[in-house]
Amino acid sequence: MSESSSIEALAARLRTEIGGLAPGERLPTSRDLVTRYAVGPVTVSRAIARLAAEGRVVTRPGSGTFVAARRPAGTEADTSWQTVALAGRAFDARAAHDLLSSPPAGAITLSGGYLHASLRPIRALEAALARAARRPDAWDRAPAAGITPLRTVFARWAGPGFGPDDVLVTAGGQNALSMVFRSTIAPGSPVLVETPTYRGALAAARAAGLRPVAVPMDADGVRPDLLAEAFAMTGARLFYCQPTFHNPTGTVLSAERRHQILAVARAAGAFIVEDDYARHLGHGAALPRPLAADDADGTVVHLTSLTKPAAPSLRVGAVVARGPVLDRLRALRLVDDFFLARPLQEAAVDLLCSPAWERHLRTLAVALRERCAALAAAMHEHCPQWTLTRFPSGGLHLWFTTPAEYAESTHAALSRGVAVSPGRGYFPDEPPGAYARLNFAAADVAEFGTAARRLA
Ligand SMILES: Cc1ncc(COP(=O)(O)O)c(C=O)c1O
Repeated sequence: MSESSSIEALAARLRTEIGGLAPGERLPTSRDLVTRYAVGPVTVSRAIARLAAEGRVVTRPGSGTFVAARRPAGTEADTSWQTVALAGRAFDARAAHDLLSSPPAGAITLSGGYLHASLRPIRALEAALARAARRPDAWDRAPAAGITPLRTVFARWAGPGFGPDDVLVTAGGQNALSMVFRSTIAPGSPVLVETPTYRGALAAARAAGLRPVAVPMDADGVRPDLLAEAFAMTGARLFYCQPTFHNPTGTVLSAERRHQILAVARAAGAFIVEDDYARHLGHGAALPRPLAADDADGTVVHLTSLTKPAAPSLRVGAVVARGPVLDRLRALRLVDDFFLARPLQEAAVDLLCSPAWERHLRTLAVALRERCAALAAAMHEHCPQWTLTRFPSGGLHLWFTTPAEYAESTHAALSRGVAVSPGRGYFPDEPPGAYARLNFAAADVAEFGTAARRLA
Protein backbone atom coordinates (compact mmCIF):
# COMPACT_ATOMS: atom_id res chain seq x y z
CA MET A 1 0.00 0.00 0.00
CA SER A 2 1.39 3.48 -0.81
CA GLU A 3 2.01 5.99 1.98
CA SER A 4 -0.93 8.18 0.94
CA SER A 5 -3.36 5.27 0.76
CA SER A 6 -2.32 3.95 4.22
CA ILE A 7 -2.85 7.48 5.63
CA GLU A 8 -6.33 7.58 4.05
CA ALA A 9 -7.14 4.06 5.31
CA LEU A 10 -6.19 5.00 8.88
CA ALA A 11 -8.08 8.32 8.67
CA ALA A 12 -11.20 6.41 7.52
CA ARG A 13 -11.01 4.03 10.50
CA LEU A 14 -10.47 6.92 12.91
CA ARG A 15 -13.48 8.77 11.46
CA THR A 16 -15.63 5.74 12.33
CA GLU A 17 -14.05 5.54 15.81
CA ILE A 18 -14.66 9.27 16.42
CA GLY A 19 -18.34 8.79 15.44
CA GLY A 20 -18.77 6.67 18.58
CA LEU A 21 -17.07 9.19 20.92
CA ALA A 22 -18.49 12.31 22.56
CA PRO A 23 -17.08 15.80 21.85
CA GLY A 24 -14.12 16.50 24.15
CA GLU A 25 -13.28 12.80 24.56
CA ARG A 26 -9.67 11.94 24.11
CA LEU A 27 -8.38 9.73 21.28
CA PRO A 28 -5.86 6.96 22.10
CA THR A 29 -2.25 8.17 22.15
CA SER A 30 -0.20 8.07 18.96
CA ARG A 31 1.81 5.18 20.37
CA ASP A 32 -1.41 3.20 21.02
CA LEU A 33 -2.60 3.90 17.48
CA VAL A 34 0.73 2.71 16.04
CA THR A 35 0.34 -0.61 17.86
CA ARG A 36 -3.38 -1.01 17.35
CA TYR A 37 -3.37 -0.37 13.59
CA ALA A 38 0.15 -1.69 12.83
CA VAL A 39 1.22 1.51 11.04
CA GLY A 40 4.19 3.86 11.41
CA PRO A 41 4.21 7.02 13.58
CA VAL A 42 4.37 9.25 10.45
CA THR A 43 1.18 7.65 9.10
CA VAL A 44 -0.52 8.28 12.46
CA SER A 45 0.51 11.94 12.67
CA ARG A 46 -0.52 12.59 9.03
CA ALA A 47 -3.92 10.90 9.51
CA ILE A 48 -4.54 12.96 12.66
CA ALA A 49 -3.50 16.15 10.83
CA ARG A 50 -6.03 15.29 8.12
CA LEU A 51 -8.83 14.83 10.69
CA ALA A 52 -7.83 18.11 12.36
CA ALA A 53 -8.03 19.88 8.98
CA GLU A 54 -11.54 18.43 8.55
CA GLY A 55 -12.49 19.90 11.95
CA ARG A 56 -13.17 16.45 13.50
CA VAL A 57 -10.43 16.58 16.16
CA VAL A 58 -8.41 19.18 18.03
CA THR A 59 -4.82 18.50 19.00
CA ARG A 60 -3.42 20.09 22.16
CA PRO A 61 0.37 19.79 22.28
CA GLY A 62 1.39 17.98 25.46
CA SER A 63 -2.17 16.82 26.29
CA GLY A 64 -3.31 14.76 23.30
CA THR A 65 -5.95 14.68 20.57
CA PHE A 66 -9.64 15.31 21.41
CA VAL A 67 -12.92 14.95 19.52
CA ALA A 68 -13.96 18.43 18.31
CA ALA A 69 -17.27 20.05 19.26
CA ARG A 70 -20.03 19.25 16.73
CA ARG A 71 -22.40 21.76 15.25
CA PRO A 72 -25.81 21.08 16.85
CA ALA A 73 -28.36 19.60 14.39
CA GLY A 74 -30.55 22.21 12.73
CA THR A 75 -27.90 24.98 12.88
CA GLU A 76 -26.61 24.62 9.27
CA ALA A 77 -25.51 28.00 7.91
CA ASP A 78 -28.25 29.87 6.01
CA THR A 79 -26.39 31.47 3.09
CA SER A 80 -29.47 32.23 0.99
CA TRP A 81 -28.91 36.00 1.55
CA GLN A 82 -25.79 35.65 -0.64
CA THR A 83 -27.91 34.84 -3.70
CA VAL A 84 -29.35 38.36 -3.49
CA ALA A 85 -26.02 40.03 -2.61
CA LEU A 86 -24.18 38.32 -5.52
CA ALA A 87 -26.87 38.98 -8.16
CA GLY A 88 -25.60 39.64 -11.70
CA ARG A 89 -21.94 38.58 -11.28
CA ALA A 90 -22.05 34.84 -12.02
CA PHE A 91 -19.25 33.29 -14.10
CA ASP A 92 -19.95 30.41 -16.45
CA ALA A 93 -17.10 28.01 -15.66
CA ARG A 94 -18.45 24.98 -17.56
CA ALA A 95 -15.88 25.24 -20.36
CA ALA A 96 -12.95 25.35 -17.96
CA HIS A 97 -14.54 22.64 -15.86
CA ASP A 98 -14.95 20.35 -18.87
CA LEU A 99 -11.37 21.04 -19.92
CA LEU A 100 -9.95 20.12 -16.53
CA SER A 101 -12.31 17.37 -15.33
CA SER A 102 -11.02 13.78 -15.19
CA PRO A 103 -13.22 11.16 -16.86
CA PRO A 104 -14.48 8.31 -14.64
CA ALA A 105 -12.06 5.49 -13.84
CA GLY A 106 -11.75 3.10 -16.78
CA ALA A 107 -12.84 5.64 -19.42
CA ILE A 108 -10.45 6.34 -22.31
CA THR A 109 -9.55 10.04 -22.39
CA LEU A 110 -9.94 11.57 -25.85
CA SER A 111 -11.00 14.86 -24.23
CA GLY A 112 -8.96 17.54 -22.47
CA GLY A 113 -6.14 19.68 -23.78
CA TYR A 114 -2.88 18.42 -22.25
CA LEU A 115 -0.22 15.79 -22.83
CA HIS A 116 -0.32 12.26 -21.42
CA ALA A 117 2.15 11.96 -18.50
CA SER A 118 4.47 9.79 -20.64
CA LEU A 119 4.92 12.69 -23.13
CA ARG A 120 5.93 15.31 -20.52
CA PRO A 121 9.60 16.13 -19.84
CA ILE A 122 9.25 14.99 -16.22
CA ARG A 123 12.94 14.27 -15.45
CA ALA A 124 14.04 17.63 -16.87
CA LEU A 125 11.26 19.40 -14.95
CA GLU A 126 12.24 17.71 -11.68
CA ALA A 127 15.87 18.72 -12.14
CA ALA A 128 14.93 22.29 -13.12
CA LEU A 129 12.65 22.73 -10.11
CA ALA A 130 15.27 21.30 -7.73
CA ARG A 131 17.93 23.69 -9.07
CA ALA A 132 15.49 26.61 -8.89
CA ALA A 133 14.66 25.85 -5.26
CA ARG A 134 18.37 25.82 -4.34
CA ARG A 135 19.00 29.36 -5.65
CA PRO A 136 19.73 31.82 -2.83
CA ASP A 137 17.13 34.26 -4.23
CA ALA A 138 14.49 31.54 -4.86
CA TRP A 139 11.99 32.97 -2.36
CA ASP A 140 12.65 36.66 -3.00
CA ARG A 141 10.20 38.91 -4.76
CA ALA A 142 10.23 38.79 -8.56
CA PRO A 143 9.78 41.73 -10.95
CA ALA A 144 6.08 42.32 -11.77
CA ALA A 145 6.75 41.69 -15.48
CA GLY A 146 8.65 38.44 -14.76
CA ILE A 147 12.33 37.57 -14.41
CA THR A 148 14.47 38.92 -17.27
CA PRO A 149 15.96 35.63 -18.58
CA LEU A 150 12.47 34.15 -18.94
CA ARG A 151 11.18 37.27 -20.70
CA THR A 152 14.17 37.07 -23.03
CA VAL A 153 13.22 33.53 -24.12
CA PHE A 154 9.57 34.47 -24.73
CA ALA A 155 10.63 37.59 -26.69
CA ARG A 156 12.79 35.43 -28.95
CA TRP A 157 9.87 33.06 -29.62
CA ALA A 158 7.62 35.98 -30.68
CA GLY A 159 10.01 37.29 -33.34
CA PRO A 160 13.33 39.04 -33.98
CA GLY A 161 11.99 42.54 -33.30
CA PHE A 162 11.10 41.85 -29.64
CA GLY A 163 13.15 42.14 -26.46
CA PRO A 164 12.50 41.35 -22.77
CA ASP A 165 10.90 44.78 -22.23
CA ASP A 166 8.05 43.77 -24.55
CA VAL A 167 7.09 40.77 -22.40
CA LEU A 168 4.85 40.18 -19.39
CA VAL A 169 5.09 36.75 -17.79
CA THR A 170 1.70 35.21 -16.92
CA ALA A 171 0.38 32.17 -15.08
CA GLY A 172 -0.18 30.23 -18.34
CA GLY A 173 -2.34 30.94 -21.38
CA GLN A 174 -5.72 31.19 -19.69
CA ASN A 175 -4.42 33.86 -17.31
CA ALA A 176 -2.94 35.75 -20.27
CA LEU A 177 -6.29 35.61 -22.10
CA SER A 178 -8.27 36.74 -19.12
CA MET A 179 -5.85 39.63 -18.46
CA VAL A 180 -6.04 40.78 -22.09
CA PHE A 181 -9.84 40.59 -22.19
CA ARG A 182 -10.15 42.48 -18.90
CA SER A 183 -7.67 45.24 -19.69
CA THR A 184 -8.01 46.18 -23.36
CA ILE A 185 -11.65 47.03 -24.03
CA ALA A 186 -14.58 48.06 -21.84
CA PRO A 187 -17.19 45.58 -20.54
CA GLY A 188 -20.11 45.34 -22.97
CA SER A 189 -17.82 45.70 -26.04
CA PRO A 190 -17.83 43.19 -28.91
CA VAL A 191 -14.81 40.92 -29.44
CA LEU A 192 -14.46 39.14 -32.79
CA VAL A 193 -13.55 35.45 -32.64
CA GLU A 194 -13.06 32.68 -35.19
CA THR A 195 -15.90 30.21 -35.22
CA PRO A 196 -15.43 27.59 -33.94
CA THR A 197 -12.89 28.63 -31.29
CA TYR A 198 -11.29 27.62 -27.99
CA ARG A 199 -14.03 27.33 -25.37
CA GLY A 200 -11.84 28.77 -22.61
CA ALA A 201 -11.39 31.96 -24.63
CA LEU A 202 -15.16 32.33 -25.01
CA ALA A 203 -15.55 31.80 -21.25
CA ALA A 204 -12.83 34.35 -20.39
CA ALA A 205 -14.27 36.94 -22.81
CA ARG A 206 -17.75 36.53 -21.35
CA ALA A 207 -16.42 36.68 -17.79
CA ALA A 208 -14.79 40.02 -18.73
CA GLY A 209 -18.22 41.27 -19.86
CA LEU A 210 -17.35 41.11 -23.59
CA ARG A 211 -19.71 39.94 -26.36
CA PRO A 212 -18.07 37.33 -28.66
CA VAL A 213 -19.02 37.87 -32.33
CA ALA A 214 -18.37 34.92 -34.66
CA VAL A 215 -16.29 35.24 -37.86
CA PRO A 216 -16.32 32.15 -40.14
CA MET A 217 -13.23 30.17 -41.16
CA ASP A 218 -12.45 27.87 -44.08
CA ALA A 219 -9.58 25.50 -44.80
CA ASP A 220 -7.09 28.44 -44.90
CA GLY A 221 -8.21 29.93 -41.59
CA VAL A 222 -10.36 32.97 -40.82
CA ARG A 223 -11.98 34.71 -43.85
CA PRO A 224 -10.44 38.23 -44.22
CA ASP A 225 -13.47 39.52 -46.20
CA LEU A 226 -15.88 38.52 -43.42
CA LEU A 227 -13.47 39.80 -40.77
CA ALA A 228 -13.51 43.23 -42.42
CA GLU A 229 -17.31 43.11 -42.57
CA ALA A 230 -17.56 42.13 -38.90
CA PHE A 231 -15.27 45.01 -37.87
CA ALA A 232 -17.40 47.42 -39.91
CA MET A 233 -20.66 46.06 -38.54
CA THR A 234 -19.74 45.93 -34.84
CA GLY A 235 -17.06 48.61 -34.45
CA ALA A 236 -15.03 45.97 -32.54
CA ARG A 237 -11.47 46.84 -31.45
CA LEU A 238 -10.32 43.31 -30.63
CA PHE A 239 -10.05 40.12 -32.67
CA TYR A 240 -9.03 36.87 -30.91
CA CYS A 241 -7.49 34.22 -33.17
CA GLN A 242 -5.23 31.20 -33.29
CA PRO A 243 -3.33 31.38 -36.58
CA THR A 244 -1.21 28.25 -35.94
CA PHE A 245 -2.84 24.85 -35.21
CA HIS A 246 -6.15 26.37 -34.32
CA ASN A 247 -8.04 24.66 -31.49
CA PRO A 248 -10.29 22.79 -32.26
CA THR A 249 -9.87 22.49 -36.06
CA GLY A 250 -6.05 22.25 -36.41
CA THR A 251 -6.12 24.85 -39.24
CA VAL A 252 -3.04 26.95 -40.05
CA LEU A 253 -3.80 30.46 -41.34
CA SER A 254 -2.31 30.72 -44.86
CA ALA A 255 0.66 33.04 -45.51
CA GLU A 256 -1.41 35.31 -47.76
CA ARG A 257 -4.18 35.67 -45.17
CA ARG A 258 -1.69 36.52 -42.43
CA HIS A 259 -0.87 39.76 -44.27
CA GLN A 260 -4.52 40.36 -45.12
CA ILE A 261 -5.86 40.09 -41.57
CA LEU A 262 -3.08 42.35 -40.25
CA ALA A 263 -4.13 44.95 -42.83
CA VAL A 264 -7.84 44.53 -41.98
CA ALA A 265 -7.22 44.97 -38.24
CA ARG A 266 -4.99 48.02 -38.82
CA ALA A 267 -7.69 49.61 -40.98
CA ALA A 268 -10.21 49.03 -38.15
CA GLY A 269 -7.85 50.46 -35.50
CA ALA A 270 -8.16 47.14 -33.68
CA PHE A 271 -5.90 44.71 -31.82
CA ILE A 272 -5.34 41.12 -32.90
CA VAL A 273 -4.89 38.76 -29.95
CA GLU A 274 -2.70 35.99 -31.38
CA ASP A 275 -3.02 32.88 -29.20
CA ASP A 276 0.15 30.98 -30.16
CA TYR A 277 -0.48 28.18 -27.65
CA ALA A 278 0.58 25.41 -30.07
CA ARG A 279 3.90 26.74 -31.46
CA HIS A 280 5.76 23.81 -29.84
CA LEU A 281 3.17 21.21 -30.75
CA GLY A 282 4.08 20.94 -34.43
CA HIS A 283 4.43 17.44 -35.89
CA GLY A 284 7.75 18.12 -37.59
CA ALA A 285 7.00 20.31 -40.65
CA ALA A 286 8.27 23.92 -40.89
CA LEU A 287 6.14 26.41 -38.92
CA PRO A 288 4.87 29.83 -40.07
CA ARG A 289 6.29 32.83 -38.20
CA PRO A 290 4.09 34.26 -35.47
CA LEU A 291 1.81 37.08 -36.70
CA ALA A 292 3.58 39.29 -34.16
CA ALA A 293 6.85 38.89 -36.07
CA ASP A 294 5.37 40.80 -39.03
CA ASP A 295 3.82 43.58 -36.96
CA ALA A 296 5.79 46.73 -36.25
CA ASP A 297 3.13 49.02 -34.78
CA GLY A 298 1.62 47.15 -31.84
CA THR A 299 -1.45 45.65 -33.56
CA VAL A 300 -0.67 42.12 -32.38
CA VAL A 301 -0.90 41.08 -28.75
CA HIS A 302 0.86 37.71 -28.77
CA LEU A 303 0.15 34.97 -26.17
CA THR A 304 2.15 31.85 -25.41
CA SER A 305 2.18 29.16 -22.71
CA LEU A 306 4.39 26.32 -21.44
CA THR A 307 1.54 24.16 -20.14
CA LYS A 308 0.89 22.50 -23.50
CA PRO A 309 4.39 21.42 -24.58
CA ALA A 310 5.61 20.71 -21.01
CA ALA A 311 3.01 19.92 -18.32
CA PRO A 312 -0.32 21.39 -17.16
CA SER A 313 1.12 22.52 -13.83
CA LEU A 314 4.02 24.43 -15.36
CA ARG A 315 1.64 27.37 -15.29
CA VAL A 316 3.92 29.88 -16.95
CA GLY A 317 3.13 31.79 -20.13
CA ALA A 318 3.52 35.30 -21.52
CA VAL A 319 1.96 38.23 -23.32
CA VAL A 320 4.27 39.90 -25.84
CA ALA A 321 3.11 43.34 -27.04
CA ARG A 322 4.18 46.90 -27.78
CA GLY A 323 2.89 50.25 -26.59
CA PRO A 324 0.36 51.35 -23.97
CA VAL A 325 -1.46 48.00 -24.08
CA LEU A 326 1.55 46.43 -22.37
CA ASP A 327 1.65 49.20 -19.73
CA ARG A 328 -2.02 48.48 -19.09
CA LEU A 329 -1.35 44.76 -18.68
CA ARG A 330 1.61 45.37 -16.36
CA ALA A 331 -0.59 47.60 -14.22
CA LEU A 332 -3.23 44.87 -14.06
CA ARG A 333 -0.62 42.33 -12.95
CA LEU A 334 0.45 44.64 -10.10
CA VAL A 335 -3.09 45.34 -8.98
CA ASP A 336 -4.17 41.69 -9.27
CA ASP A 337 -1.34 39.79 -7.62
CA PHE A 338 2.00 41.73 -7.71
CA PHE A 339 4.08 39.03 -9.46
CA LEU A 340 4.30 35.32 -10.24
CA ALA A 341 5.99 32.89 -7.79
CA ARG A 342 9.72 33.10 -8.43
CA PRO A 343 10.62 29.38 -8.06
CA LEU A 344 8.27 28.45 -10.92
CA GLN A 345 9.71 31.19 -13.15
CA GLU A 346 13.30 30.10 -12.34
CA ALA A 347 12.39 26.45 -13.01
CA ALA A 348 10.78 27.41 -16.33
CA VAL A 349 13.81 29.32 -17.58
CA ASP A 350 16.16 26.58 -16.40
CA LEU A 351 14.10 24.03 -18.38
CA LEU A 352 13.89 26.17 -21.53
CA CYS A 353 17.65 26.84 -21.55
CA SER A 354 18.67 23.21 -20.95
CA PRO A 355 19.63 20.85 -23.83
CA ALA A 356 16.84 18.58 -22.54
CA TRP A 357 14.19 21.03 -23.81
CA GLU A 358 15.23 20.81 -27.48
CA ARG A 359 15.51 17.03 -27.16
CA HIS A 360 12.03 16.92 -25.62
CA LEU A 361 10.53 18.98 -28.46
CA ARG A 362 12.06 16.68 -31.08
CA THR A 363 10.72 13.56 -29.36
CA LEU A 364 7.34 15.18 -28.81
CA ALA A 365 6.94 16.11 -32.49
CA VAL A 366 7.51 12.49 -33.53
CA ALA A 367 5.16 11.12 -30.85
CA LEU A 368 2.39 13.58 -31.75
CA ARG A 369 2.70 12.78 -35.47
CA GLU A 370 2.44 9.05 -34.78
CA ARG A 371 -0.45 9.44 -32.35
CA CYS A 372 -2.34 11.72 -34.74
CA ALA A 373 -2.01 9.17 -37.56
CA ALA A 374 -2.92 6.26 -35.26
CA LEU A 375 -6.13 7.82 -33.97
CA ALA A 376 -7.16 9.00 -37.45
CA ALA A 377 -6.59 5.47 -38.79
CA ALA A 378 -8.49 3.83 -35.91
CA MET A 379 -11.46 6.16 -36.43
CA HIS A 380 -11.40 5.59 -40.19
CA GLU A 381 -11.43 1.83 -39.69
CA HIS A 382 -13.92 1.45 -36.85
CA CYS A 383 -16.04 4.60 -36.90
CA PRO A 384 -16.55 5.57 -40.56
CA GLN A 385 -19.70 7.54 -39.76
CA TRP A 386 -17.45 10.24 -38.21
CA THR A 387 -15.66 12.32 -40.87
CA LEU A 388 -12.27 13.89 -40.18
CA THR A 389 -12.43 17.53 -41.30
CA ARG A 390 -8.66 17.74 -41.97
CA PHE A 391 -5.47 15.88 -41.08
CA PRO A 392 -3.61 18.41 -38.91
CA SER A 393 0.14 19.07 -39.09
CA GLY A 394 0.31 20.16 -35.45
CA GLY A 395 -1.60 20.47 -32.20
CA LEU A 396 -3.28 17.82 -30.08
CA HIS A 397 -6.71 17.36 -31.66
CA LEU A 398 -8.74 15.86 -34.48
CA TRP A 399 -11.97 17.67 -35.42
CA PHE A 400 -14.75 15.46 -36.78
CA THR A 401 -18.19 16.02 -38.20
CA THR A 402 -20.43 13.45 -36.59
CA PRO A 403 -23.90 12.11 -37.28
CA ALA A 404 -26.52 14.47 -35.83
CA GLU A 405 -27.35 12.17 -32.93
CA TYR A 406 -23.78 12.59 -31.61
CA ALA A 407 -24.15 16.37 -31.38
CA GLU A 408 -24.27 16.25 -27.59
CA SER A 409 -22.26 13.09 -27.46
CA THR A 410 -20.23 13.41 -24.25
CA HIS A 411 -22.74 11.56 -22.15
CA ALA A 412 -23.39 8.91 -24.77
CA ALA A 413 -19.67 8.40 -25.27
CA LEU A 414 -18.93 8.47 -21.56
CA SER A 415 -21.49 5.77 -20.88
CA ARG A 416 -19.50 3.62 -23.34
CA GLY A 417 -16.22 4.43 -21.60
CA VAL A 418 -14.71 7.10 -23.91
CA ALA A 419 -14.49 10.79 -23.03
CA VAL A 420 -14.72 13.16 -26.05
CA SER A 421 -15.36 16.91 -26.34
CA PRO A 422 -18.68 17.62 -28.09
CA GLY A 423 -18.43 20.37 -30.70
CA ARG A 424 -21.30 22.56 -29.53
CA GLY A 425 -19.31 24.52 -26.92
CA TYR A 426 -16.73 25.73 -29.47
CA PHE A 427 -19.27 27.83 -31.35
CA PRO A 428 -20.20 31.25 -29.99
CA ASP A 429 -23.53 31.00 -31.87
CA GLU A 430 -25.47 28.24 -33.61
CA PRO A 431 -23.13 25.46 -34.84
CA PRO A 432 -23.47 24.76 -38.58
CA GLY A 433 -23.58 20.99 -37.89
CA ALA A 434 -22.63 18.28 -35.42
CA TYR A 435 -18.96 18.10 -34.46
CA ALA A 436 -16.69 16.49 -31.87
CA ARG A 437 -13.06 17.05 -30.91
CA LEU A 438 -10.80 14.11 -30.08
CA ASN A 439 -7.47 14.57 -28.30
CA PHE A 440 -4.80 12.11 -29.49
CA ALA A 441 -2.19 13.13 -26.88
CA ALA A 442 -3.96 12.36 -23.60
CA ALA A 443 -4.68 8.61 -23.74
CA ASP A 444 -2.54 5.50 -24.16
CA VAL A 445 -1.95 4.87 -27.89
CA ALA A 446 -2.75 1.20 -27.30
CA GLU A 447 -6.32 2.23 -26.40
CA PHE A 448 -7.14 4.10 -29.65
CA GLY A 449 -8.61 1.02 -31.40
CA THR A 450 -10.86 0.22 -28.42
CA ALA A 451 -11.92 3.88 -28.15
CA ALA A 452 -12.88 4.04 -31.85
CA ARG A 453 -14.81 0.75 -31.60
CA ARG A 454 -16.68 2.00 -28.56
CA LEU A 455 -17.55 5.28 -30.34
CA ALA A 456 -18.85 3.33 -33.33
C1 LIG B 1 -6.14 27.69 -27.62
C2 LIG B 1 -5.80 27.67 -26.16
N1 LIG B 1 -5.34 28.79 -25.59
C3 LIG B 1 -5.05 28.84 -24.27
C4 LIG B 1 -5.21 27.74 -23.47
C5 LIG B 1 -4.88 27.87 -22.01
O1 LIG B 1 -3.95 26.94 -21.58
P1 LIG B 1 -3.11 27.11 -20.23
O2 LIG B 1 -3.81 28.12 -19.37
O3 LIG B 1 -3.11 25.76 -19.62
O4 LIG B 1 -1.76 27.58 -20.63
C6 LIG B 1 -5.70 26.54 -24.03
C7 LIG B 1 -5.94 25.37 -23.19
O5 LIG B 1 -6.55 24.40 -23.59
C8 LIG B 1 -6.00 26.51 -25.41
O6 LIG B 1 -6.45 25.41 -25.99
